[in-house]
Amino acid sequence: MTESGQKFKIFKFLKIVICSFLITCLLLFTIASIRTLSLDLNVGLQLARWEKTNNISLVIDHHQREELLAHFKEAIRIPTVSFSEKESNTTALLEFDRLLREVNKRLRLLLIRHELVANYSHLFWVQGSHPDLVPYLLLAHIDVVPASEADGWEAPPFSAQEIDGFIYGRGTIDDKSPVMGILQALEYLLKKGYAPRRGFYIGLGHDEEVSGFKGALNIVRIMKQRSVRLSFVLDEGLAVLDGVISGLQGPAALIGISEKGSATVKLSVSMAPGHSSMPPRETSIGSWLQQSKD
Ligand SMILES: *[C@@H]1O[C@H](CO)[C@@H](O)[C@H](O)[C@H]1NC(C)=O
Ligand SMILES: *[C@@H]1O[C@H](CO)[C@@H](O)[C@H](O)[C@H]1NC(C)=O
Ligand SMILES: *[C@@H]1O[C@H](CO)[C@@H](O)[C@H](O)[C@H]1NC(C)=O
Repeated sequence: MTESGQKFKIFKFLKIVICSFLITCLLLFTIASIRTLSLDLNVGLQLARWEKTNNISLVIDHHQREELLAHFKEAIRIPTVSFSEKESNTTALLEFDRLLREVNKRLRLLLIRHELVANYSHLFWVQGSHPDLVPYLLLAHIDVVPASEADGWEAPPFSAQEIDGFIYGRGTIDDKSPVMGILQALEYLLKKGYAPRRGFYIGLGHDEEVSGFKGALNIVRIMKQRSVRLSFVLDEGLAVLDGVISGLQGPAALIGISEKGSATVKLSVSMAPGHSSMPPRETSIGSWLQQSKD
């Protein structure tokens, strides 16, 4: 083959490569444009549509607002303190039980099951219309850690005093807002004729702050006995915090997507000591890390 013939072949090959590349780019750009223009941002948020339930108005009138607030304050005022694994304020826990029953009158009528677990914890079961859907579990706890006014509270810790639109008290965040939030939201939805397709459980522990060996453990035991399978568990959650996370301007809501556990491990490494100016190939730190990895 002549030299010019070879050059022509290379040129033709390059032309094909460049043309294919341009066509691919054009195609990808077109697909991306169509997808961007047709993206419906709201699609994931339409719970009502997904649940195929009634159109439930989210308007809470002044009277309802006052009532919700009053119930929440009442919950804060009951000192459901866990002092230790063995000692809780059982008088307060009984009082809380009465509050839950009073607040959720309708729940009692409509829920399939409400049972006490380990005397003071609660397990609710809301039946769904589609029994084949795997249920889920909402969790919260009704106990709090001790609090004393001497710790420098701006308002007494069990007063639920309102200052500048904020309610002060032990348990406002951890964890009586989820307790009351879940139950009052459910009460509200049921009043409005809500009928879930997927059944769900609500578990309220009374000794979470001291490991949950009575409440959580027995709730799990009961569910295991009944061979309950769950699609997911949603627990506690965090507050909307402002000025707490350094470097972040404005309020931030943290979404926890996993639960941490705890473990205590004691590791020791014995190696020949040396001077840091001439470290050996593997130091005690390297060896220690290797052990932790294994
Ligand atoms: C639900 O009802 C409200 C008013 O009652 C109405 O404005 C809204 O469009 C309705 N939404 C749907 C999805 O039907
Ligand atoms: C336990 O709770 C009751 C109210 O339910 C309260 O009167 C009492 O002071 C509490 N006890 C302690 C030790 O905090
Ligand atoms: C529940 O209360 C009874 C009677 O006071 C007691 O014997 C029992 O141990 C309690 N159960 C739990 C799990 O605390």
